[in-house]
Amino acid sequence: MKTNLEFDIQDLREKDRLHTVHGWTDYAQFVEEGPEILVEGDGVYVTDINGSRLMDAMGGVWCVNAGYGRSEIVEAIATQARRLPFANPFRATTSPPAARLSAKLARLAPGDLDHVLYSGGGSTANDAALRIVQRYFNTLGRAEKKEIICRRNAYHGSTTASAALCGIDEIKVGFDVSRAGVHYVSAPYAYRGAGGDDAGAFCDRLVDEFAEAVERVGADRIACFYAEPVMGMGGVLVPPPGYFERISEICKAHDILVIADEVVTGFGRLGEMLASDAVFAMAPDIVTCAKGLTSGYLPLGATIVSSRIMEVLRGPVAGSGTFTHGFTYAEHPVCCAAALANIALIEREGICRHVRETSGYFKSSLDTLLDFDIVGDVRGAGFMFAIENVADRESKALFPPEVAIGDRIAGHARRNGLIVRPGGHLNIFSPPLTMSRADIDFLAETLRESIRRTQDDLVREGLWRG
Ligand SMILES: Cc1ncc(COP(=O)(O)O)c(C=O)c1O
Repeated sequence: MKTNLEFDIQDLREKDRLHTVHGWTDYAQFVEEGPEILVEGDGVYVTDINGSRLMDAMGGVWCVNAGYGRSEIVEAIATQARRLPFANPFRATTSPPAARLSAKLARLAPGDLDHVLYSGGGSTANDAALRIVQRYFNTLGRAEKKEIICRRNAYHGSTTASAALCGIDEIKVGFDVSRAGVHYVSAPYAYRGAGGDDAGAFCDRLVDEFAEAVERVGADRIACFYAEPVMGMGGVLVPPPGYFERISEICKAHDILVIADEVVTGFGRLGEMLASDAVFAMAPDIVTCAKGLTSGYLPLGATIVSSRIMEVLRGPVAGSGTFTHGFTYAEHPVCCAAALANIALIEREGICRHVRETSGYFKSSLDTLLDFDIVGDVRGAGFMFAIENVADRESKALFPPEVAIGDRIAGHARRNGLIVRPGGHLNIFSPPLTMSRADIDFLAETLRESIRRTQDDLVREGLWRG
């Protein structure tokens, strides 16, 4: 490791502290402590500027699916950047990587989803989906179809439009996020929402609630239903069996488009390239993806639409046949080359199969943490899991927010060589999909030690009875 010789740590920290606006950052803490600086990555590990090697159980931000240091992806990026770093995506210009990637995504996508509109990431992929939905119904002469059904706990992005789809109120504080036209139904949050119901009865209740929302808002006014197959940021919530299939049937019966936000679940995280239909029989009309599409090596979002929708989009609106939407960096040739290399690698190494075969081991390793009194629930699927921490297992009461229970556990884990994501009372895991059983053992052991220390701290500080 050359970090300390290569970098002036204090200088970098100060430059960042004084001049960078970080997303999702507590500024009181940041101004006090400054940033953490990561400088290298290989496999499931990253190295910080002090030379500490850390297992990255967040996979960046749910995105480094193929792991760090993949020379195939790096070479593909370098080769394309040397050859042609940019091609104007407008007025029917393209590049070989963009054309190849569109055809590849059309093959991977479910049903008749076979046209791809590119953007810079997940939020813009979702924005683009909304614009497509508007254009679709307006072109069909059904401009009254404008309302959107979303779910509480949903996360769909940070642009003005995608933020309006989110069902997490805390993240809207301080912003003027319009709720007009967006209707929320319950999340499939079994731990807190099922009561005494089994999965079947819980599913019935959720589907009934959805049908009632359609009835209340009026099917003729509803344009689309927006959903993550497994909710990520909202707490890693896995729907009960049959949930999406039944909701999708209601949507189809009323000409409500089903949009699957696969920004997190795509490209292997649930053991399939795309999970919405393969795992959940969602039969989407539009799939949005980003993150794992390039394994985070470069920014790229994709909005994949059905041929039925595309046929309408090709038609004229108000006498004009021009599709007046587009981003300069849409089908960026270097990003598309990175995505192609990443998908080829995921396929060649059987990474989806690895996730399917290893997910059960991952889950049962985390389940051992239910021994601790503060661990209320362990849930998830594929390679995305959450631990929900509680002050009282019986009543499921939470610790007050100022206890920052997720941060405490993440802090101990960090000091022991493991990066896990804190999210209020949760800790979330979305590691590179190449993680081995031995890596999972390390993760579970380190968490065990981190939770034990956190419980001891809480008792010592008089914050918990023990
Ligand atoms: C389900 C989901 N959709 C959309 C987004 C937004 O993606 P991006 O941050 O690339 O804009 C995220 C980001 O975490 C996400 O989890």
